[in-house]
Amino acid sequence: MLKFLESVPANDPVAKPEQRQIIDRILNENKNLPGGLMVILNELQNQIGFVSPSMQQYVAYRMRIPVSTVHGVVSFYSFFTTTPRGRHTIKFCMGTACYVGGVPQLIEKAKQILGVDPGQTTPDGNITVELCRCVGACSQAPVVVVDEEIHGRVRPNKFPQILRTVQDKEKQISEQAA
Ligand code: FES
Repeated sequence: MLKFLESVPANDPVAKPEQRQIIDRILNENKNLPGGLMVILNELQNQIGFVSPSMQQYVAYRMRIPVSTVHGVVSFYSFFTTTPRGRHTIKFCMGTACYVGGVPQLIEKAKQILGVDPGQTTPDGNITVELCRCVGACSQAPVVVVDEEIHGRVRPNKFPQILRTVQDKEKQISEQAA
């Protein structure tokens, strides 16, 4: 265990005393409950904001289960992220109608413009790109959800316009803060 802790990056929540306290509390309260792993990972995502690889290793160690089990759950549910989410989230609907309607091309476009794949955040911490399941707006496929706002019938050439809405929001926030 000590060896593992020595190898944890200094900026990881496991290495930061305040965040480690939160992680330990969540683990102590839930690790012996049936279905405890899911509860723990949910709480970590909500309270820390992500579940890093070191956090996954720590959870596995404390619960005495294989790291692969923890990793399997984290990678299966798109709700979990392994890095902090950006200030804004762009989600691409991967439901059948949206997929057939052109979401893969939109994802490619996003990659060209933002330089990140789904599951990643732009280096400035502004935008996280994610995939999601059907959001119930199939008649407007392909659908992109920006923060909580649904944009329908998005064509690749319209995507930069959507990005501008995110940039405008960011500008407004920094103007209000100034
Ligand atoms: S498949 Fe995308 S909204 Fe239903």
